[in-house]
Amino acid sequence: MHRSLDGKAIEPATERDVAAIISVLTANRHDGGLFQEPKSEVQSNVGDFLVARDLSRRVVACTALHRHTATCAEILGVAVLPELQGQGIGMRLVRECEQIAKAERIEQLWLATIKPTYFARLGYEKFSRWELPTRVLLRKLRQVFQQPLSRWLPALFGCHTFMKRRLGVTPHATLLKVVVGCFVSMYTDRLRQQRLAIPKQANEGSSKMRCRADHSGSRWSGLRAEPNAARPCG
Ligand SMILES: CC(C)(COP(=O)(O)OP(=O)(O)OC[C@H]1O[C@@H](n2cnc3c(N)ncnc32)[C@H](O)[C@@H]1OP(=O)(O)O)[C@@H](O)C(=O)NCCC(=O)NCCS
Repeated sequence: MHRSLDGKAIEPATERDVAAIISVLTANRHDGGLFQEPKSEVQSNVGDFLVARDLSRRVVACTALHRHTATCAEILGVAVLPELQGQGIGMRLVRECEQIAKAERIEQLWLATIKPTYFARLGYEKFSRWELPTRVLLRKLRQVFQQPLSRWLPALFGCHTFMKRRLGVTPHATLLKVVVGCFVSMYTDRLRQQRLAIPKQANEGSSKMRCRADHSGSRWSGLRAEPNAARPCG
């Protein structure tokens, strides 16, 4: 649980928060970009939800982190009571989702929004919805049809911007990768040099033997050294 200076706490939602989550979503029902989740849907996915509470433990904001696969999850239903918007609560909810996702080794978060500027400021960038697996797109489509009829067309025909953020690569991880990469390439270079050196020595050795054989006048003297072996003997 995280508590900020102004006393707001962000916590995982429990069964008892279902009604309060619905209230926060309903309070923002005029916002065309926010999907209104049916109560049954919130109830069955309550484990996905986070809630922000004020000092009196009232739920003032919510969001959900839905895991699609072990490495990819969706942030949805980010909503703050209208009278408390603009105080950083929405941002804290998104950051909390990111922390949870990182701890679970989720590599990528995505969301669909009609407020791309807001999420761009939080580090999200646009991507094509067609990059999503069919199963995930179908789930989204089902959510669209759970909305009031007036929202179907905007949701289906491109009013939402799909945005994603990669979480896997932290600056530390990148640095570690570079250092390990350097060591590996130094080691492989050394191995390659050693491998090249062995046949050269062997070659030099055999050419010496052939030269000696040539000068010895033995019955092997007729053997001509190969061009490579015809260098002056040292
Ligand atoms: C969108 C929402 C979640 C943001 O939460 P919030 O707590 O009000 O916002 P924050 O306090 O975290 O961020 C405020 C900053 O974002 C900016 N911001 C707010 N809405 C914005 C928008 N639509 N586009 C760009 N910037 C926006 C504010 O100007 C403010 O900037 P500042 O810090 O420079 O003053 C909240 O306004 C909300 O619940 N809206 C209705 C529901 C909704 O649309 N949800 C998103 C569904 S995807």
